[in-house]
Amino acid sequence: MQPDVVPVANPLAQYIAYKDEFVHALRGVLERGRYILGDEVASFELEFAAFLGVGYCVGVGNGTEALKIALKACGVSAGDEVITVSHTSVATVAAIEEAGAVPVFADIDRLTRCMDPHTIDYLITPKTKALLPVHIYGQPAPMREILEIAKAYKLKVIEDCSQAHGAEISGRKVGCFGDAAAFSFYPTKNLGAFGDGGAVVTDNADIAGKSRLLREYGWKERYISSIKCGNSRLDELQAAVLRLKLLRLESDNAKRRRIAQTYMAAINGFKITAPTFIENTLHAMHLFVLETDMRDDFREFLLKEGVGTALHYPMPVHLQPAYAGPVRGPQKLKNTEELYAKIVSLPMFPELTDAEVEKVCLAIRKWAAQHEK
Ligand SMILES: Cc1ncc(COP(=O)(O)O)c(C=O)c1O
Repeated sequence: MQPDVVPVANPLAQYIAYKDEFVHALRGVLERGRYILGDEVASFELEFAAFLGVGYCVGVGNGTEALKIALKACGVSAGDEVITVSHTSVATVAAIEEAGAVPVFADIDRLTRCMDPHTIDYLITPKTKALLPVHIYGQPAPMREILEIAKAYKLKVIEDCSQAHGAEISGRKVGCFGDAAAFSFYPTKNLGAFGDGGAVVTDNADIAGKSRLLREYGWKERYISSIKCGNSRLDELQAAVLRLKLLRLESDNAKRRRIAQTYMAAINGFKITAPTFIENTLHAMHLFVLETDMRDDFREFLLKEGVGTALHYPMPVHLQPAYAGPVRGPQKLKNTEELYAKIVSLPMFPELTDAEVEKVCLAIRKWAAQHEK
């Protein structure tokens, strides 16, 4: 990306803004000499669980591993089916397959862009073990309806919260609705490390205990494996960074929402579809994703005006070469396929300056004025 182009995400900006605090915390870890699963991880686990209002947090290597471990800890195993969405990061689907299960795709709702509860029932078979909704872009999925279906069919629910740190439904943080939830701390996330990181959270002591075994060779006691598995641990340097960033997560999310409101005002009146703010939910605004029929032209124009854009994602998972065959679900996912051809992500991170936000808004208005006469 050219230096004068406003980027879509910028994790470096957060490092620069609080450099002294990060360097101090990181030096502390380096000088204490314990680098994996030490005091920083233990403290972060407690602090993040308290932030979410859940009983347990288990730090792991990344978000994909967090999903896989959460699924396995909830009892998902070879041959089981897990209903999720195709409009997500490929990681969601990869994790289901790594847990040995078969991903089955429900369609999305056009307003929330999350799993549409009305498309779940007819996908349920005797092999269905769990539902895996994704709070995509920071918008909470309709958990009340999803939990009702899960209860009726005795299914586990695992939330993919990788894009929704701090998002809420009726005042409760996402991550505390399902049997378990997974978070990614990839650097560009609302709560992002300076490397890879992830966490499983749950209110269930059993699921937490299994997740702890699954993150480190099945060890209850060091060097004695009680179950077969690999390792996926959170390291101390990342946990120290996450502890500092967690202190600012709420105010950072509020900044994201303010930027989103400014974008909404700029879009208002044009034939561009903005994200919908759903009643009783608090959007974490991980990504600001609008919709236009002239997406490629829009992106080209904005880039010429010095504004970067991105696609999240360029193709739904069920149409990607690797996943076109082995997954099960309806032939067509109407809303999913309709949406992905129109979506564009605008720059969205808390350190965006007023001037940068204004530059984005001006570029949008200029494009719209030319195309919507
Ligand atoms: C919705 C979703 N699920 C899972 C993941 C996987 O996280 P990670 O990249 O940390 O493995 C991501 C992050 O890219 C994501 O956005």
